[in-house]
Amino acid sequence: MPQIFTASADTRLRTALLVFVLVLCGSVLFVGGYMDSSYATLVGWVRDQPVPFSHEHHVGGLGIDCRYCHTTVEVSARAGFPATHICMTCHSELWTGAPMLAPIRESLASDRPIVWQRVSKLPDYVYFNHSIHIARGVPCVACHGRVDEMPLMARAQPFQMRFCLDCHRNPAPRLRPPDQVTRMDWSDWDNHPEEHKLYGELMVKAYGIQPSKLDNCNICHR
Ligand code: HEC
Ligand code: HEC
Ligand code: HEC
Ligand code: HEC
Ligand code: HEC
Repeated sequence: MPQIFTASADTRLRTALLVFVLVLCGSVLFVGGYMDSSYATLVGWVRDQPVPFSHEHHVGGLGIDCRYCHTTVEVSARAGFPATHICMTCHSELWTGAPMLAPIRESLASDRPIVWQRVSKLPDYVYFNHSIHIARGVPCVACHGRVDEMPLMARAQPFQMRFCLDCHRNPAPRLRPPDQVTRMDWSDWDNHPEEHKLYGELMVKAYGIQPSKLDNCNICHR
């Protein structure tokens, strides 16, 4: 009987198999870790903007309401970005010659909107709508975090499917009176968990929200 495998070939084969198994385990762990890492979810990352606009100054410091700039958030799918003339209501008086604001002046002169780099964007195959969330009292902070503390805008949540589903399956604890959706700080309510819970449960009934149906695929993939 001729020997097909020499003893050393057998060792090499075993070694190769072992390496293959190790690489496979490694990749599975790597991919699993990667999907939840800030590299993949982009949480906390800022982008270069044409103008270094600060929500910390304008919202946290000056107390301007979100809807002053994101004018369509209550009535349409998109919150939208402010038209240049909205910035100019103040900056035609304030910081008028600042180099930092040159792109704003150019935009006004040329009548071309500023192109902002997006930090929160869903893939095209996901349907999202701001107005329904705002109407039900889901606060901006639940999805966008404390923007009043952001000198530059960063993504606060991983907009993965799990994030949407966690709330859709149990929205009650997140609901507020709709006129309070743009408030960033909510400590006075959070200190009264019982009332908050009761309010949420009542509102789920009053609005006819059905959590058992809110995780149907066709709600978000249409
Ligand atoms: C209601 C008035 C108001 C509006 C509207 C407004 N700003 Fe400002 N902005 C200010 C004031 C006041 C300061 C000075 C803040 C400070 O120094 O604390 C400022 C400062 C700035 C600065 C300097 C950096 C900083 O944050 O201190 C930039 C850049 C800026 N604004 C951009 C914009 C852009 C872009 C818009 C439109 C999307 C806009 N602002 C809309 C009042 C306004
Ligand atoms: C004075 C105008 C102004 C006000 C007030 C304002 N924003 Fe903005 N917002 C902007 C501008 C300009 C941008 C684009 C530049 C940037 O990303 O910082 C922006 C970007 C954003 C983005 C990033 C969206 C994306 O996909 O890139 C979010 C989220 C956001 N704003 C939420 C809010 C919330 C929540 C509030 C209220 C608590 C608010 N903004 C108040 C002007 C404003
Ligand atoms: C339930 C989660 C949720 C809530 C609540 C929410 N947003 Fe958003 N927002 C998103 C998602 C998701 C996107 C990205 C949408 C896309 O890419 O299609 C987004 C995008 C934005 C943008 C970028 C422009 C746009 O319309 O796509 C702005 C500005 C913004 N949101 C502001 C706000 C403000 C202001 C509020 C509160 C009044 C708010 N959002 C409440 C999830 C939310
Ligand atoms: C913090 C809670 C919360 C989060 C987070 C959230 N939602 Fe919602 N969503 C709601 C509530 C409450 C409703 C209103 C349900 C109703 O009135 O029947 C809703 C409704 C919707 C609707 C409309 C359903 C319809 O019947 O027309 C869509 C679409 C939707 N959400 C998509 C998303 C997507 C995509 C995400 C993630 C990016 C998301 N939501 C994150 C609470 C949330
Ligand atoms: C509340 C909204 C929502 C519902 C309901 C929902 N999805 Fe998603 N889905 C998303 C979002 C947001 C993403 C984008 C994830 C990302 O970019 O990482 C996504 C991504 C996906 C993807 C792409 C792969 C992935 O996981 O990133 C598949 C496949 C998918 N969904 C299938 C489904 C199926 C099947 C159902 C029903 C059982 C469903 N989805 C229900 C919001 C939803």
